[in-house]
Amino acid sequence: TARYAVFGHPVVHSLSPRIHAAFGTQLGIAMQYAAIDAAPGDFANALGAFAASGGLGANVTLPHKERALALCTEASDRARRAGAANTLSRLNGQWHGDNTDGAGLVHDLTERRRLDLRGRRVLMLGAGGAARGVSPALLDAGIGELWVVNRTAERADALADALGEPGRVHTRYWADLGNLGAFDMIVNATSAGRSGGIELPFSLAGNRSLAVDLSYGEAAVSFMAWASAAGCEHRFDGIGMLVEQAAESFALWHGKRPDTDPVFASLSARAD
Ligand code: ATR
Repeated sequence: TARYAVFGHPVVHSLSPRIHAAFGTQLGIAMQYAAIDAAPGDFANALGAFAASGGLGANVTLPHKERALALCTEASDRARRAGAANTLSRLNGQWHGDNTDGAGLVHDLTERRRLDLRGRRVLMLGAGGAARGVSPALLDAGIGELWVVNRTAERADALADALGEPGRVHTRYWADLGNLGAFDMIVNATSAGRSGGIELPFSLAGNRSLAVDLSYGEAAVSFMAWASAAGCEHRFDGIGMLVEQAAESFALWHGKRPDTDPVFASLSARAD
């Protein structure tokens, strides 16, 4: 059977094996999908060994997404713009890199949640790998403005420069969050929820605002609690994006996009 895997560190809690197995069952596609833990220094070797043993495709999660792109012979435009790859495909003895994170987020918000992103004034909290991964897709989805605010100002500036749209993309200091007014959409792309939580001014939220966390489970609790207390109308954690980016990867490998509703429902039930 065809072999696929997710690489991460840590990776034991990854939901990807379960999601891809469910997609395979749904579409009658036989395959193996493993979780492979590789420390940063071992990632290139582990990926090479996987290829040598017949691996056809890999998902890549923290902290390997940038390194994964560097190991690819070819990469999609969206992976290059994100500076990171989350989906690798083995073609003619070489890895081809793609990044489905941004498309997954936009698909979740516009298809599942039926929200219109066009023209929105968007606040991006964070400027690390997660923010880089989704920002190009948000711009392509027609948002009006993207305000990148990061604890370390230089990284916000670097992300804005990489996005290359000075007319739509702006940066501000973290200390100024209280003076930026309200946003139509607030994206938590920080990892603060994995280490003690996040504190934000309520003035960022309007009553029609959409708040979305790119992480899920425990890591999303503090931002979701803030969004609720601040009165954001729509509040979602990253489970929807997780399932949709997996469906995009599955479609790249197997040529068919699965119905994500049953998997989303079972993961949401589990998260509650
Ligand atoms: P990821 O791939 O999850 O984005 P990362 O590249 O390490 O991981 O980026 C983590 C992001 O969360 C960064 O934007 C980081 O801010 P710095 O660039 O200043 O480090 C942000 N972050 C982490 N902890 C934070 C906290 N307690 N408050 C605010 N931002 C935080």
